[in-house]
Amino acid sequence: MIKVSELSKRFANNPVLKAINLNVKQGEVVAIIGPSGSGKSTLLRCLNLLEKPDSGIIQIGEVTLDCQHYNHRQETELRKQSAMVFQHYNLFKNKTALENITYPLIVGQKMDKKQAMQRGLWLLERVGMVDYANQYPITLSGGQQQRIAIARALAVRPKVLLFDEPTSALDPERVHEVLQVMLQLAKENITMIIVTHEMEFAKYVADRIIFMANGIIVEEGLAKSIIDNPQNALTQRFLRQLTDDIDFQI
Ligand SMILES: Nc1ncnc2c1ncn2[C@@H]1O[C@H](COP(=O)(O)OP(=O)(O)OP(=O)(O)O)[C@@H](O)[C@H]1O
Ligand SMILES: [Mg+2]
Repeated sequence: MIKVSELSKRFANNPVLKAINLNVKQGEVVAIIGPSGSGKSTLLRCLNLLEKPDSGIIQIGEVTLDCQHYNHRQETELRKQSAMVFQHYNLFKNKTALENITYPLIVGQKMDKKQAMQRGLWLLERVGMVDYANQYPITLSGGQQQRIAIARALAVRPKVLLFDEPTSALDPERVHEVLQVMLQLAKENITMIIVTHEMEFAKYVADRIIFMANGIIVEEGLAKSIIDNPQNALTQRFLRQLTDDIDFQI
């Protein structure tokens, strides 16, 4: 479903992604972990061209794009293959929950309004938010807003969902409801790449874990084996620090 070859990106003289290679199968759930600044968000953002990669080849679904030579049409086609869920939800504040979902359908996909409403309500149902269809984001909790953001991402039927720390801005008691929705999607065989610090969730849901540091993939493998038995010294240190942080909370 996804094939990334030699993807590189630098900001000024800071090389952030160094010739990344990544393959993700249809229905696979891949979690990306790694220290702050290792390039996780940049990698996700490059996959749907929110950032312009410097070089490399990105293939998602049937669309292949050479990052050094592409035209506007190829860019639009590649963008359509994925949808992103951000840490801070990024909902339209002046639109209701339902309008947040129907807007990209009506404006982007030229779907007729009634059909878009039907699809929007069905998606809200799937994330347990149909009772809140007419509420504005400001009246909803972070977890509820994030579930709407997930429904919005699903609306355009992307081949792949990209999540960038979807629960890290949430109150602890709201994390579960968002993870629950993501778990459901994983069971429905939706292809997902999830940048996360939720190790237990990653271990449970992800088929594979990728550990990134300094712009490269340092180690990858089955979720359980990477978390329980990391081989690389950097991975070991990163995971140890996470547990130390937990021990530190008195
Ligand atoms: N728009 C930008 N302009 C300049 N430098 C940037 C930009 N975006 C990211 N960077 C730099 O790229 C590097 C990787 O950033 P990125 O956000 O991808 O890391 P991350 O692994 O997602 O970190 P975190 O866990 O903190 O979210 C960092 O050094 C960051 O400062
Ligand atoms: Mg990030």
